[in-house]
Amino acid sequence: MQQSIKFDIDLINRYNKAGPRYTSYPTALELSERFTEQDYRQQIALSNERGGPLSLYFHIPFCDTVCFYCACNKIITKNRKHAVPYLQSMFQEIERQGALFDKTRVVDQLHWGGGTPTYLNKEQMKELMDMTRQHFNLRDDDKGEYSIEIDPREADAGTLAYLRELGFNRVSLGVQDFDPAVQKAVNRLQSEEETFALLDAARKEGFRSTNLDLIYGLPLQTVKSFSKTLDIVIAASPERLSVFNYAHMPSLFKVQRQIKDEDMPSAELKLEILQMVIQRLIAAGYVYVGMDHFAKPSDELVIAQQNGQLYRNFQGYSTHSDCDMVGFGITSIGRVADSYVQNIKELAPYGEAIEKGGLAVFKGFTLDDDDKLRRAVINGLICHFELNFKVIEEQYSINFKEYFAEQLIELAVMQEDGLLDLLEGSINVKPAGRLLIRNICMVFDRYLNEKKKQFSKVI
Ligand SMILES: C[S@@+](CC[C@H](N)C(=O)[O-])C[C@H]1O[C@@H](n2cnc3c(N)ncnc32)[C@H](O)[C@@H]1O
Ligand code: SF4
Repeated sequence: MQQSIKFDIDLINRYNKAGPRYTSYPTALELSERFTEQDYRQQIALSNERGGPLSLYFHIPFCDTVCFYCACNKIITKNRKHAVPYLQSMFQEIERQGALFDKTRVVDQLHWGGGTPTYLNKEQMKELMDMTRQHFNLRDDDKGEYSIEIDPREADAGTLAYLRELGFNRVSLGVQDFDPAVQKAVNRLQSEEETFALLDAARKEGFRSTNLDLIYGLPLQTVKSFSKTLDIVIAASPERLSVFNYAHMPSLFKVQRQIKDEDMPSAELKLEILQMVIQRLIAAGYVYVGMDHFAKPSDELVIAQQNGQLYRNFQGYSTHSDCDMVGFGITSIGRVADSYVQNIKELAPYGEAIEKGGLAVFKGFTLDDDDKLRRAVINGLICHFELNFKVIEEQYSINFKEYFAEQLIELAVMQEDGLLDLLEGSINVKPAGRLLIRNICMVFDRYLNEKKKQFSKVI
């Protein structure tokens, strides 16, 4: 499979409209409160009937200080005691959900996200992992994908050694930008030393595929300043890099109002920065996996993509199968059997729901046959940049060209624009279409045109 990516400014300008990131299809916006705990229990039963490995997601929402760009589900507090009742509720939730899932199902994937998971102290982290092990079938052969998001300001080499002992083997470090002026403008002061001490420790402890998060489009960024950040990052040679497009939506994320309008890079400058990022990372030997993600050719993400075995879930790309994902903690989203399910979003109501003896289901969505079919199409495109009609036809008993006749007309326009090739039995995304993969996926999104939704720009 061809791995190249082409930055075509005219195409990008023409296609750069708001769109979803497709970590799920249908997107989280379709989740509704009509979906009840009873619905979730039925889906768990169905999931057990079908069997297969599990993926577990734990949301640790706390952070010590706020980063002004942040769009994550977090709670800012210096009072570490807040974690105590939260964990107590989470332990009960683990026990309750554990009782519903077939205990023989192996946990192939586990992820702690946030917020800042290492806001917890060592004892709390151990207790959380022990509790999980007690109620789910965790692997002890290091063959799973057990990952954690780390803010380097909230961890040291000792934390990493401890996390490795607990069973983690993947780590993602938040960096964003090393420029002092940018760091000040976003209220995230973080030195190169503390960051790379952790990268070194991760390597020493045997963590695989270490990832660094960067963001382009932050206030005061210039091509030159971000290129300097890339110099530092490339020299450190992480196996993976996520370079996120800054989603600036102050009406949705109040903390972003702390960022001065006049400090924001223009749309043109953002694109120049992106172009520089792509050129530099490709020149440094990274492969563009898709949707903000780069990895070294030897990394398992790239190998999985080449073998047609890459998947996309709420945490981004993954090499492990499309297994059912169970979420724990506030705001967490799970994917179980034919449904998506989201937990209550606020701390106190979450604790109260658990206290009452039930689960903490807030919203959900049950996929119908059309949703599942479109999900497979979107996943194929976003993970592999190509789609073989026959595979979809066999799996979903449809005639692709008849079922998607309208969509194929839309894609023909994209073909003329040079985004993709429409072949007799497949769609092949071309290098210039890869950055616009969201736009191609949007053609297959049944819900997008029904209502005007709020998403960030695709680039
Ligand atoms: C939960 S945080 C990572 C862990 C830890 N809290 C930290 O900041 O190091 C997830 C990542 O989301 C990205 N992120 C947060 N807000 C964003 C935004 N508005 N636009 C784009 N990326 C964003 C950042 O790159 C951040 O590292
Ligand atoms: S970027 Fe990370 S540390 Fe900063 S506020 Fe968001 S979740 Fe917390």
